Amino acid sequence: MSRALALSAFLLAIAAAAAADSSTVEHFLRRHWRMPLAPQGPPPARYSALEASLAPEACGTCHPAQLADWRTSLHAHAMGPGVAGQLVEMWKSAPGEALACLTCHAPLAEQRPSDGAFDAALQSRGIVCAACHVRAHERFGPPRRDGTVASGAPRETLAHNGVTRTSAFLASEFCRGCHQFTSNGFALNGKLLENTHAEWKASRFAREGVQCQDCHMPDRRHLWRGIHDADMVRSGVTIAVEGGRGPVRPGQTISATLTLESTRVGHAFPTYVTPRVLLRGELVDADGAVVTGSRRERVIAREVALDLSREIRDTRLRPGARARLVYQARPARAGLRLRLSVVVEPDAFYTAFFETLLGSGAGQGDAQIREALAATRRSVFTLFVRELPAT
Ligand code: HEC
Ligand code: HEC
Ligand code: HEC
Ligand code: HEC
Ligand code: HEC
Repeated sequence: MSRALALSAFLLAIAAAAAADSSTVEHFLRRHWRMPLAPQGPPPARYSALEASLAPEACGTCHPAQLADWRTSLHAHAMGPGVAGQLVEMWKSAPGEALACLTCHAPLAEQRPSDGAFDAALQSRGIVCAACHVRAHERFGPPRRDGTVASGAPRETLAHNGVTRTSAFLASEFCRGCHQFTSNGFALNGKLLENTHAEWKASRFAREGVQCQDCHMPDRRHLWRGIHDADMVRSGVTIAVEGGRGPVRPGQTISATLTLESTRVGHAFPTYVTPRVLLRGELVDADGAVVTGSRRERVIAREVALDLSREIRDTRLRPGARARLVYQARPARAGLRLRLSVVVEPDAFYTAFFETLLGSGAGQGDAQIREALAATRRSVFTLFVRELPAT
């Protein structure tokens, strides 16, 4: 009895500690991500020019591994031609909207043209190190890998006066501000346009304590791979083919089933309205040419109208769910093969959106939007393919 009481008192104490920890994290994050971000102000007098600089290369002088990773990430390209090409005209027609884009794509005060310390070169670098790590020239970061937060030596003797370490850097909530609209944000068909954190929160991964960083920054790498990376997508899904045992005689029916299950994606697959995933079945001849009329597809996507006026359909997979393409055909001739594949179009929405924008005139952004359009076409890849003898 007394042991049971002692145990429940102990469990209550743990629960209270966990609650205190999550409220400290929330408290920190409210301050850290208060938008728009405040200017850094003047650097401490003892800082060298290198320590005072907000340029990623300055950080990279002493943190080369993070710089090398970050450079290859989409965060580093968040002010690429697709965004910059739209902003040139927007600054003239709707400067308020253009500023709003920067809160996620180039969030530092020093990246906003309206700020006194504006630096155009820094703006073009997108989501720089300092956006996540520096406030008022103070460095913030995660606890050391051994879990400790205190600095050994007096901070004023360390590079950039040391680091304020907090477990907030390890929590999904750190990523929420840019990857989740607030509950009163833009929605279609009753669903927010960006809902990644809420999707994660409702998943088994949240219950098991698996954070965004565990999947997107394994071993603290700064790569943030997602739908644009074949290996990353493969890590989250399980693909299987059943049936299709052949070959059959021309005129007989061949059938096979292609199944894709979302086994390790921590949110809807895919989470945004911009990608499209296709389960595809088709007959091909000896030269690899597709037999006309033989292609069948099943789309996994949340498709919305280009003007964001309505949702067309939502066939995304919740964690654990699966999509299936049952392929049936009656090949008319001999020597054909059945090809089953999974094709990923990471930027399907933007391909159509940029085409329409160019059609109506992108003004001074024209060349950049053309470059962005070409990039959306190049990003398509085949995730999986299997060919079976059909006839
Ligand atoms: C002159 C070298 C130098 C420059 C420039 C520099 N740092 Fe550091 N940084 C260090 C050193 C040394 C430490 C380790 C301090 C400690 O142990 O407390 C550190 C620690 C950190 C940490 C914690 C790392 C960990 O191991 O947990 C972060 C985050 C960080 N720096 C971010 C930045 C960012 C962002 C920039 C650029 C805006 C930057 N630093 C520029 C030398 C530098
Ligand atoms: C300051 C805003 C901001 C923060 C904070 C932020 N992101 Fe991002 N993230 C973006 C933007 C904007 C893009 C798209 C960049 C582009 O392609 O132009 C992006 C892209 C990504 C992608 C690539 C998606 C793809 O299409 O392949 C992943 C993965 C990602 N972020 C994960 C994270 C994680 C995990 C965190 C938290 C550690 C995080 N992000 C924090 C704004 C942010
Ligand atoms: C709440 C944060 C947020 C805001 C505000 C925001 N974006 Fe994004 N943006 C993202 C994220 C996250 C992605 C990556 C996922 C995707 O492709 O939808 C992205 C991707 C993009 C892309 C495709 C990737 C690329 O670099 O070509 C374009 C273009 C873009 N945003 C333009 C804009 C424009 C223009 C605005 C302002 C009207 C804006 N965004 C406002 C978060 C934001
Ligand atoms: C989108 C936000 C974001 C950006 C941009 C970013 N970081 Fe980080 N950084 C994080 C998070 C979150 C962690 C902790 C990740 C974890 O522990 O899983 C981290 C960890 C670190 C660490 C500790 C690494 C370790 O091994 O302990 C260093 C150092 C660091 N970042 C430096 C940089 C530098 C330098 C840049 C720019 C080149 C940069 N970061 C850009 C979010 C960011
Ligand atoms: C269990 C692992 C896992 C967790 C947890 C996870 N992700 Fe992902 N994420 C993936 C995989 C795998 C992909 C690639 C497939 C896809 O695009 O859905 C991905 C894709 C993405 C993309 C690409 C865009 C898109 O439309 O899919 C973004 C952005 C992203 N994740 C952000 C986040 C954020 C923010 C969190 C935390 C709230 C998070 N992820 C949690 C595994 C995870």
